[in-house]
Amino acid sequence: MQGAFSARLVSGKVGASRLPTPADNTANFPFMQPTSTKVTMQYDSHSLSLPAQSGQRLASGWLLLALLSLVGAGLVVILIVLARTPVIHNLIPWTGSFRTALVIHVDLSVLVWFLSFAGVLASLTLAERLQGWGRLALRMAMLGTGILTFSPFLGEDAPFRNNYVPVLNNTAFFVGLLLFSGGFALLALLTLWQRRPAQSAGERGLRFGLWTALLIYLLALASLAWSWWELRGITVHDEHYFELLFWGGGHLLQFTHVQLQMLAWLWLGSLAGLPLFLTPRMAIPLFIMGALPALVGPVIHAFYTADSGELRLAFSELMIYGGGVASLPLALMMAWALWKADPVARPEQEIMRLALRSSLALFVLGGVIGFMIRGINVTIPAHYHGSIVSVTLVYMGLAYALLPGLGHQQPPVRLAGYQLNLYAFGSMLHIIGLAWSGGHDVQRKTAGAAQGLENLADKIPMWIMGAGGMIAVCGGILFLVLAFRSFRWGGMDPNHG
Ligand code: HEM
Repeated sequence: MQGAFSARLVSGKVGASRLPTPADNTANFPFMQPTSTKVTMQYDSHSLSLPAQSGQRLASGWLLLALLSLVGAGLVVILIVLARTPVIHNLIPWTGSFRTALVIHVDLSVLVWFLSFAGVLASLTLAERLQGWGRLALRMAMLGTGILTFSPFLGEDAPFRNNYVPVLNNTAFFVGLLLFSGGFALLALLTLWQRRPAQSAGERGLRFGLWTALLIYLLALASLAWSWWELRGITVHDEHYFELLFWGGGHLLQFTHVQLQMLAWLWLGSLAGLPLFLTPRMAIPLFIMGALPALVGPVIHAFYTADSGELRLAFSELMIYGGGVASLPLALMMAWALWKADPVARPEQEIMRLALRSSLALFVLGGVIGFMIRGINVTIPAHYHGSIVSVTLVYMGLAYALLPGLGHQQPPVRLAGYQLNLYAFGSMLHIIGLAWSGGHDVQRKTAGAAQGLENLADKIPMWIMGAGGMIAVCGGILFLVLAFRSFRWGGMDPNHG
């Protein structure tokens, strides 16, 4: 399969000259062989076609950056989890680095992991003639990520626990952050400017979703720039300053992630052989519904200044009431399609269904916990992790399909199944422990003795958080091992072959 498959792509035939037939789609994703007339109908549903070799290499580059960011976010989270686990935190000599670790964990996961995966999706659609610029954007993002990751060792280690984009108040950190977000902004602009011709209605629907996500990213950057300008009078750059600076942009960025989560759910649904319940044409109004709330962002800035309580409340309410308007109905439709689906045609399809099922489960768990938030305590990260681990799981499923599609090895299916189960189960336990501790008003972003976990009633849920967290970390490590072992390194270098 591999040899024949990559030889076809090297010729660049698939992307260039003619609309793909279902046979092309099946060639792109080996396990999508039609087994019945109904299945054939799916192939004009939700799927992005694969570009010729240079586009694959670019997409592989962004995928590699995404995987490397998970390595970093995963390594520091071991310290975070242990520093919050009762009794064990007394044995950890590095509790003092908890805050720095939290900054790196959040920025490498929510920013770099999520946006680099968006970079994979954007690279699949980028016009051939802009691939060179696409590679420049990738190199900027990679350099930025490297500097950001090592910034605790490249300057003053002054962590601020502000929300959305927590910062280390040193020059290296900001240089890294600017290079990464600038690199992704360049790719977003290039992708919005020129793309390869879409190959099917199914692709047009998903591409519309991708465009809205990239546009909202640029809107989030504009909100950040506007806030920076409005706050220019503030000379003391402390935690409160950065909270105000990233508040608007941070909230808008969540809409980018939700649009891409919906794109990934739809694509994974096709890869998993689910019945077609939403035609490609119906996907477009869904993405419009999901994107519209983000357009309120500039209106909020027009009425309120960046340092006003009104602006902060307006963006929070925009997220609470606007964040699920499209994703919730789609989640219900995906759950229904999973329920109604025929048995899988190939074992690989079971992996796609497992990723989808666990992603939906975490989405619902995170949503339910969101309504339980009362005050500032660990119920908030419990809600966060439901929502963001749901996105992470659907991206892990898509990565398993994209790796062979981009000319790398097919990850072993059985191990991929264990991995998804381990990560989902660990995350659920972790989230339940955090939500339960939230009921005891255990504080966010606080480690060690400072948590004030006096009695057993306080300690038990945090032990559950710790155990779940470490199981999820094992699931994350297994994902990275499977993905890196599948990578065909020669396949990534843009100057190779
Ligand atoms: C192996 C899986 C993971 C574990 C065990 C884990 C664990 C944790 C812990 C213990 C905290 C600190 C909570 C606090 O002190 O308030 C935290 C914070 C955070 N994590 Fe994770 N995490 C994981 C994966 C992720 C992923 C995949 C993302 C995003 C893509 C993410 C994003 C965040 C964010 C945004 C915060 C800050 C929460 C807040 O502001 O309250 N985490 N994580």
